[in-house]
Amino acid sequence: MSQRRLFVTTALPYANGNFHIGHIMEYIQADIWVRFQRMQGHAVNFVGADDAHGAPIMIAAEKAGKTPQQFVADIAAGRKPYLDGFHISFDNWHSTDAPENHQLAQQIYRDLKKAGLISTKTIEQFFDIEKNMFLPDRFIKGQCPKCGAKDQYGDNCEVCGAVYAPTDLINPFSALSGVTPVLKSSEHFFFKLSDPRCVDFLETWTQDGRLQPEVANKVKEWFSVRENADGTKSEGLGDWDISRDAPYFGIEIPDAPGKYFYVWLDAPVGYLASLKNLLDKRGEDYEAYMADPRLEQYHFIGKDIVTFHTLFWPAMLKFSGRKTPDKVFVHGFLTVNNGEKMSKSRGTGLDPLKYLSLGMNPEWLRYYLAAKLNAKNEDIDFNADDFMARVNSDLIGKFVNIASRAVKFLPDGRLTVSRMEKVASTQIVEVVRGLYETREFGKAMREIMGVADAINSRFDVNAPWKLVKEGKAAEAAQVSSECLEMFKVLTACLKPVLPALALQAESFLQCEPLTWANAALPLGEDHQVGDYKHLMQRVDIKQLDALFEPPAPVEQAQAATDSIASMPGGEELAPTISIDDFARIDLRIALIVNCEAVEGSTKLLRLTLDVGEGTLRNVFSGIASSYKPEDLIGKHTVMVANLAPRKMKFGISEGMVLAASHGDEKAQPGIYVLESGAGATPGMRVR
Ligand code: 2FM
Ligand code: ZN
Repeated sequence: MSQRRLFVTTALPYANGNFHIGHIMEYIQADIWVRFQRMQGHAVNFVGADDAHGAPIMIAAEKAGKTPQQFVADIAAGRKPYLDGFHISFDNWHSTDAPENHQLAQQIYRDLKKAGLISTKTIEQFFDIEKNMFLPDRFIKGQCPKCGAKDQYGDNCEVCGAVYAPTDLINPFSALSGVTPVLKSSEHFFFKLSDPRCVDFLETWTQDGRLQPEVANKVKEWFSVRENADGTKSEGLGDWDISRDAPYFGIEIPDAPGKYFYVWLDAPVGYLASLKNLLDKRGEDYEAYMADPRLEQYHFIGKDIVTFHTLFWPAMLKFSGRKTPDKVFVHGFLTVNNGEKMSKSRGTGLDPLKYLSLGMNPEWLRYYLAAKLNAKNEDIDFNADDFMARVNSDLIGKFVNIASRAVKFLPDGRLTVSRMEKVASTQIVEVVRGLYETREFGKAMREIMGVADAINSRFDVNAPWKLVKEGKAAEAAQVSSECLEMFKVLTACLKPVLPALALQAESFLQCEPLTWANAALPLGEDHQVGDYKHLMQRVDIKQLDALFEPPAPVEQAQAATDSIASMPGGEELAPTISIDDFARIDLRIALIVNCEAVEGSTKLLRLTLDVGEGTLRNVFSGIASSYKPEDLIGKHTVMVANLAPRKMKFGISEGMVLAASHGDEKAQPGIYVLESGAGATPGMRVR
């Protein structure tokens, strides 16, 4: 077969948290496929990157006291232990904030504009006058317009399930500053997906067999104008809002000052940017690579981001004159012990780094996931008992055991003439090859284990240990040789899943690196094998118990971030500041002359403070969960006296009192207002 050229990616993870088991599953799935292709001698470039942009990351960075660039760099720095730990063989890992991505995204936009597919429209959105920014839906909160539940997000109600626009909320407020947002209009840029050219193209592209049937069917629904079951109307393909106003962490839109690409516009461009970065480093020509008609492009993604990859992304590529993906491989979600879906921001249940730190073999997980995966976008469940059974009884009991049993009966570790059926080995290799190609990994594992069963039976029936006792050592050696020959064939078949074990087995077998070309070839008469060292430990139930043991409450914040850095009080220390930075903050002793509850708020107390100025200050403080108003009256505390006044829902707040709390409020609830030492009087500066 001629050499194929494959460009393979996995979805780019948001750079606002560490990998969870859902990411690792996707990477393992793609990595198995990639290693399989490489074993056939095909040329694969397998790349990933951090998805760096967007409002949530910008806001998280601000909260952490970092620039967004520093914030995403710190997350990126933590990727390696996961990727190396689970043998994920990316050729490159990059970032969507890298220069290549800025250039490529801007060029694609220019090309789309030239094609007449960019339009502008003025739209009205909620604006936070204090943060001076438009608010994304999830940063607007208020009362549900349908059921009246308090503290609901701008797009849907978690209590009654209603879906609405942020402008429908009763008493909306900004989740960032607490102020009531105002409606403000601004010009937005749209990608005209409703243009007949796009619709025609996508109707064909999504239905020509390149997508999994269940995915193609789902996508089909998005094209039609129709009445839904709940009486609402589906409009068919609408234009896609691709711009966001400053401040935004993203890529600037050319010739549009203050406008940035919406994160989902530049995220998939990151696939190309990572590839370009890789080729540049190797001194290869990116344009020539992409222009090669033989190039095949594949994206592995989860079922939650199908729209972006089957509508927006192919249309962007097509109408900017670029190659479109050959296939998009969609997988389902991973649940753990029948638990809930892995949440995007924080996986639950199975922490990948904890798994590794317990000394659990990454190839156990690779094998287990392979055994469960198929070509459909079905959810799969990680079940601890099932995991232990499959690894211990199948992988070790059936496969690894062949080598350890058979090697004992070879005189001087030499294979004797083997009656191994060439046909049988060629057949299994061919069947398994076909299953890997179509991502039917579960079926492939079952085929392999079926053959392993047959080999073990052959060994048992011939009972070489008895043959030896009967003085038939040559026959014993022959049976064992056959079994070892088949062990080699199965090792080759399992190599995409178990690369490290295959390496050890190759060294034991003293054979060339196993490929698809040499998989079915016999080692041959007189082949000398090396010393056998046990190839794989069994899963110990204690490890699984430890893996799923919930972290003690104090450890929880720590475990959540997987951070090795010390986190006193549940959060990392803020970056170092100078004494001058500190001097800009004017801290004063304040006497709490009055304190009262705030009607309509369960979080805030209204404090009246004497800071020795001759007038009193009004300050709102989010401490109602820990104090009754009367507890605080008469106390001396410390306040930030030069903080800009903030307009809040309930009035203006003229400063802030200092209070301590743990970084993970859920793990360690409680807020503690600072009190001054005896003798301090209102207005004294704290330094
Ligand atoms: O859903 C997500 O986690 C996105 N960060 C995936 C982006 S995939 C690609 F388009 F970059
Ligand atoms: Zn509701």
